[in-house]
Amino acid sequence: MSQEFEHKSVLLNEVIDILKPAKGESLLDVTIGLGGHAKEVLSMTGSKGSLIALDADIQNLEEAQRRLSKVKGAKEFVCTNFINLPEMDIEPVDMILADLGMSSVHIDNPDRGFSYRTDAPLDLRYDRNNGETAHEIIERVSEEEINNYLWRYGELKQARRIAAAIKEALPKTTWQLRDAVETAIGYKANSALPQVFQSLRIVVNSELDALESLLQFGPKLLKEGGRMVVISFHSLEDRMVKHAFRAISTPKRDQTTGQISVPAPFDVLTKKPVTASDLECEENSRARSAKLRAIIRV
Ligand SMILES: C[S@@+](CC[C@H](N)C(=O)[O-])C[C@H]1O[C@@H](n2cnc3c(N)ncnc32)[C@H](O)[C@@H]1O
Repeated sequence: MSQEFEHKSVLLNEVIDILKPAKGESLLDVTIGLGGHAKEVLSMTGSKGSLIALDADIQNLEEAQRRLSKVKGAKEFVCTNFINLPEMDIEPVDMILADLGMSSVHIDNPDRGFSYRTDAPLDLRYDRNNGETAHEIIERVSEEEINNYLWRYGELKQARRIAAAIKEALPKTTWQLRDAVETAIGYKANSALPQVFQSLRIVVNSELDALESLLQFGPKLLKEGGRMVVISFHSLEDRMVKHAFRAISTPKRDQTTGQISVPAPFDVLTKKPVTASDLECEENSRARSAKLRAIIRV
């Protein structure tokens, strides 16, 4: 993958405003993608700054490595799912960034199965060396289970009908999946398909389990004064981030006096989630659903 894909990092200015990278600081980017955010951060942390970059997708990781090769600072690239963070030997850092979900490359690359714009094997894995493809999962699980996925992760009202059609068709490709959804709900398929793909993607990559683990373990890796930013793209994820950040930024109070007995170790930096400007949404449709939340270790 050597050509320069058109790539816009979501909420780039907002990420920089909140992280406020300073000279010599370290960044742990757990979803390096094509390295857009990290490049900007490294340009501010300078030659004494450092980056640990993770991605479950080896192609993206290697492309990020190529794109960041001329940027100053120490860099380490690791191909792994961030669910594995607790087993990694990582020293505390100044900044953590998680820009969740898929990248533009996944959508644009016709053989990954993330989009029904082109016909492709129904894969949907970030890490193509591990785990089951969407097709394999559909073959293995029951219709009821598929219904649960569509209902829970896609919030699809027609989940039951779509699940029945999917189980009947056992689609091997993106267009076979699209046809099954059309068989189930006719012209309404157009508006339902993004959620059908989203549901399967979440299941294939165990995205909510990975996020849960990141929200538990990530803050522990922050130095004093360290900042953590999470950008999510659907309400389930945003709700998890909001609750996790609220829990660790709430001080414990004495039950009788109401006085703070144990101060909270973190502060929330975003009272409300930060969203993209109208201009950014116009230029990049993916930015429309982006929500950014951040904490700082006090
Ligand atoms: C939205 S892109 C990141 C874009 C990046 N911030 C940039 O500016 O170029 C998300 C990346 O995270 C990766 N990813 C998603 N879930 C992951 C997980 N649980 N562990 C590791 N990488 C993951 C995807 O493969 C994708 O490359």
